[in-house]
Amino acid sequence: MDSHTFKNILIDWYEDRKRDLPWRHTTDPYKIWLSEIILQQTRVVQGMSYYEAFVTNYPTVADLARASEDDVLTLWKGLGYYSRARNLHYSAKYIMEYHDGEFPTTYKEVIALKGVGKYTAAAICSFAYKDVYPVVDGNVLRVISRLFGITDAIDSPATVKQIYAISESLIDRDRPDQYNQAIMEFGAMQCTAKSPNCTDCPMKEDCVARAEDIIDQIPYKAKKVKRKSRFFHYLIWEDEGQTVVQRREEKDIWQGLYQYPLIETDNIRQIELSKMCEGYIPEVQKNVEIQKVSEVHLQKLTHRDIHARFYHLLVSDIQLVIKNEYFLVDQKKVSNFALPKVIDAYLSQ
Ligand code: ADE
Repeated sequence: MDSHTFKNILIDWYEDRKRDLPWRHTTDPYKIWLSEIILQQTRVVQGMSYYEAFVTNYPTVADLARASEDDVLTLWKGLGYYSRARNLHYSAKYIMEYHDGEFPTTYKEVIALKGVGKYTAAAICSFAYKDVYPVVDGNVLRVISRLFGITDAIDSPATVKQIYAISESLIDRDRPDQYNQAIMEFGAMQCTAKSPNCTDCPMKEDCVARAEDIIDQIPYKAKKVKRKSRFFHYLIWEDEGQTVVQRREEKDIWQGLYQYPLIETDNIRQIELSKMCEGYIPEVQKNVEIQKVSEVHLQKLTHRDIHARFYHLLVSDIQLVIKNEYFLVDQKKVSNFALPKVIDAYLSQ
């Protein structure tokens, strides 16, 4: 199939089948940027309400730049991968300072923004400015590798480069915006990872993977990343409805989020009271009662499993455990903070 036929079939399919998504009604680069960052690791259905909330709360890049990081993270609550929100906020301030508050207009400037990679820059520049940059995300890798019968490892840079080259030749130079939306939509709705809808596919006669009956083997992944585990023990100090939380400041997962005081160990065995009291004044150990220890709760991250236990500790006076970096809060208000999912889930059970 030549590229002329391909893009026409693809865009016709898109016009016929596309979902009505809010970010498809704008050419405002700021709003497109917001939507693309939200959608980086989030499904469309879930991302929609967050997109609306961000556009409503921060209609312009200046509004986002003016917000506090805490407010931005709180609005992000539930989406996970919070570095995306921190980068958004950082970049909004950067745009105010270095681009006079105008969203950058060239690919080179857009890709220089923190949190914006090749895929996101292509999406923003094609949707907002009709620049001819093909998007290559997981959906596109799958569609192209199946269509062309590419059985090489999709996680190797050489294969990705090859698919970029094919995409450059396929993209519609007059309608790069529609082409890019269309190929992503095609991957999301038609040429899906599991059970693609081949019977009803407008490219079925031209698909090499289908002709060779290897659809379920493409895209082929070579590397299996080894998952690692971390073991978190959260101390819920309690005294008459009050507790303490702290902000995660270290360069580690969940930076900027709030949590109960945390002890990390290398296994999930329950820790002893003496261990919990390390780092506090000696009076604490004599004035605390372990009220409850939770089951182990699991949060799966991309390459990590977080195993968490929660220890409810009744202390005779919450002041005994207060440290500089702690915030004294009403227990009922803890869930208002931007928390890691594992804590949120525990609190809402
Ligand atoms: N996923 C990432 N970007 C998207 C977009 N613009 N439309 C639908 N899904 C997407």
